[in-house]
Amino acid sequence: MADQDLYPVPPEWAAHARVDSAGYDQMYGRSLADPGTFWLDQAKRLDWIKRPEIAGDWSFDKSDFHIRWFADGKLNVSANCLDRHLAKRGGETALIWEPDEPSEEPRRFTYAELHAEVCRFANVLKGQGVVKGNRVTIYMPMIPEAAFAVLACARIGAIHSVVFGGFSPEALAGRIEDCGSTIVITADEGRRGGKRVPLKANVDAAAAHAPGLTTVIVVKATGGAVTMQAERDVWYHEAAEGVATTCPPEPMGAEDPLFILYTSGSTGQPKGVLHTSGGYLLWASLTHELTFDYRPGDVWWCAADIGWVTGHTYILYGPLANGATTLMFEGLPTWPDASRMWQIVDRHKVTTLYTAPTALRALMKEGDGFVTATDRSSLKLLGTVGEPINPEAWRWYHDVVGQGRCPIIDTWWQTETGGAMIAPLPGATALKPGSATMPLPGIDPQLLDPEGVVLNGAASGNLVIARSWPGQMRGVWGDSDRFFQTYFTTYPGKYTTGDGARRDEDGYYWITGRVDDVINVSGHRMGTAEVESALVLHPHVAEAAVVGMPHDIKGQGIYAYVTLNSGQDPSDDLRKELVGWVRKEIGPIAAPDKVHFAPGLPKTRSGKIMRRILRKIAEGDVSSLGDTSTLADPAVVDDLVANRVV
Ligand code: WT7
Repeated sequence: MADQDLYPVPPEWAAHARVDSAGYDQMYGRSLADPGTFWLDQAKRLDWIKRPEIAGDWSFDKSDFHIRWFADGKLNVSANCLDRHLAKRGGETALIWEPDEPSEEPRRFTYAELHAEVCRFANVLKGQGVVKGNRVTIYMPMIPEAAFAVLACARIGAIHSVVFGGFSPEALAGRIEDCGSTIVITADEGRRGGKRVPLKANVDAAAAHAPGLTTVIVVKATGGAVTMQAERDVWYHEAAEGVATTCPPEPMGAEDPLFILYTSGSTGQPKGVLHTSGGYLLWASLTHELTFDYRPGDVWWCAADIGWVTGHTYILYGPLANGATTLMFEGLPTWPDASRMWQIVDRHKVTTLYTAPTALRALMKEGDGFVTATDRSSLKLLGTVGEPINPEAWRWYHDVVGQGRCPIIDTWWQTETGGAMIAPLPGATALKPGSATMPLPGIDPQLLDPEGVVLNGAASGNLVIARSWPGQMRGVWGDSDRFFQTYFTTYPGKYTTGDGARRDEDGYYWITGRVDDVINVSGHRMGTAEVESALVLHPHVAEAAVVGMPHDIKGQGIYAYVTLNSGQDPSDDLRKELVGWVRKEIGPIAAPDKVHFAPGLPKTRSGKIMRRILRKIAEGDVSSLGDTSTLADPAVVDDLVANRVV
């Protein structure tokens, strides 16, 4: 590693940060040597109705598989995010909302105001018959009411399932049905980059495939026209009229479910990742404070959507548990122009920004002028998440956006992990562009070879986590076996992440990307199997195979090989139709970038598609296709190479 690729901890950070290098070593060591004491001590950062006396109680072994944290504790997550701050900082800003349209006024809510809004929303839900344990689907734009709805569920013990507003009615219906939710909270329309998203109309369309849906609460956001169905649909502002702004928080067991969030895997339909209350909140709060060196007075901006886990943990739960001021942005980084994010930083004096490499690459492409025209002197620290950050984007973030003053905190984690897992601490860890660096306290990463042998020292392998941590997912909704099967059978006794990684001679981790059939499009996970299922639903498609391909902005794009039914001819119109079809079936994020009409796919004699070869061709790496002798028909490969879509 060349010296210029190491960014030492700036002396002022070492001196003032919550944790310095010696502090990290000590904390990390204690977390693994005496986890019981360490975690019960950490648990004090939450307000418990009944303080837990046991920390982790878990086994990854098949015969005794279970994961529980603080299981004898009782708490309410919304009370931890709201009520406990009222006495000390009830008048301080909890939430800043920046609208899509820059000429509109932002909205601000103090902790006292947010508390009142959440209680009111909770009472409306109760009025609709929602009780503890019910599943509530939230399909909302990035407006404050989305935050109220999420926290209102937590307050009454209902399990929220937020579905990203970019998902199609079909995808929404599947998620409503899977978790058996009878109620959806939505808005008339969403806005992003000056465009309207017909959320309520999408819910209407989803309802046709979700027979269990009985109640739709509609927030009036844009005032756009919607059709309300008597019996089923309720305007939030009407239901909320005269409703009390206090609501007692429901006492919850630490292991009671808090939320479900659907995410793509390598097989089948998206799975409902289940997180519970105590351990998740602890992990959200601890990692937000440690990783980003959160201090009272900071203005924290996580530029994700609440439809993803990043939004759950780092727009809402982590920062609010810590009493922070958290910013929520309705719009897009590139609208009205590529200066928008930096204007927001200046407008609200943002101190800490957390965003994704794909956004940085998109902005970098527009030139430095959009950045340098703004002040940004409020910024102290910059974070990134979602996919490996290429060193070029890292340096641009550091040098241009952060004017060389701000540590870049590259956080590796997953929907399943609840919060950051491998990340530098700004006062403790020298940075290397492109490396997520070191494990957080309690996290025990290992690299394994394909046979499951633990690799020591500098090595590359499959990244697993060898012990449980409080923020770990607890199950797949409705399918207890799928959780164990998906994550604990490849390497028995360990949590398999699905990522590959390299550990360098200094012990730094470099995530190299997924080792399964999951692709990462703009920091969002897409199962290739899902896109394939959508494609084969089209009447002209016989077979489809989908792989990732390198993409300058998105990180990975979607390359789809499609075999048509006999008698169907490939055409540009059909290509467009198929792209539109996938958009409609899943949502715009799943739309293939390239559609390759293939008369045949490379298969082994037993009929298994050789994805390795398809990946290579999509990447344009056709000189090293490896052994194709086991193929049923090796000539198929030559045809694919000759007709590669560029
Ligand atoms: C997958 C998880 C974590 C919230 C957003 C995505 C990739 C995530 C990084 C990073 C390299 C990363 C991994 C992981 N990933 N962060 N800092 N460096 N890769 O959550 O949708 O559950 O996706 O995103 O491949 O497995 P997700």
